[in-house]
Amino acid sequence: MTDHELLTIALEARDKAYAPYSGFKVGAALLDREGRVYAGCNVENASYGLTICAERVAVAKAISAGSTKFDKILVVDGDGIITPCGACRQVLYEFAPHIKVICAGSSGEMMEYDLEDLLPHSFSLQQREV
Ligand code: THU
Repeated sequence: MTDHELLTIALEARDKAYAPYSGFKVGAALLDREGRVYAGCNVENASYGLTICAERVAVAKAISAGSTKFDKILVVDGDGIITPCGACRQVLYEFAPHIKVICAGSSGEMMEYDLEDLLPHSFSLQQREV
């Protein structure tokens, strides 16, 4: 699965985003270690705080399908390049502390990060044993 294939899947998901309040549509494509891809889009709500980001939708789809080991997640919005919000970083960290995070523009430009660099000194239950 190439990054450009992931981008195509994320853009298709982005088209389905439900973002009537912000007008900001986001798509994500999460690649697991078996090569399966789980797509997500943001889902907003009239009670704004209930909004779910594209990345967390993709994680929930994967986990609920029984997939728990991940290699990469690609995230794309419409114009520039965005990096995942703090809540999504924390949720990704739960399952894949070293997942590659690819932040893409819709025309193909990409930045790649290790999640550990986007969320240093993160909270995890292992800390309780330190
Ligand atoms: N959003 C995402 O889907 N992912 C992010 O990483 C950042 C923000 C969504 C949430 C909301 O629907 C819209 O973008 C504006 O914040």
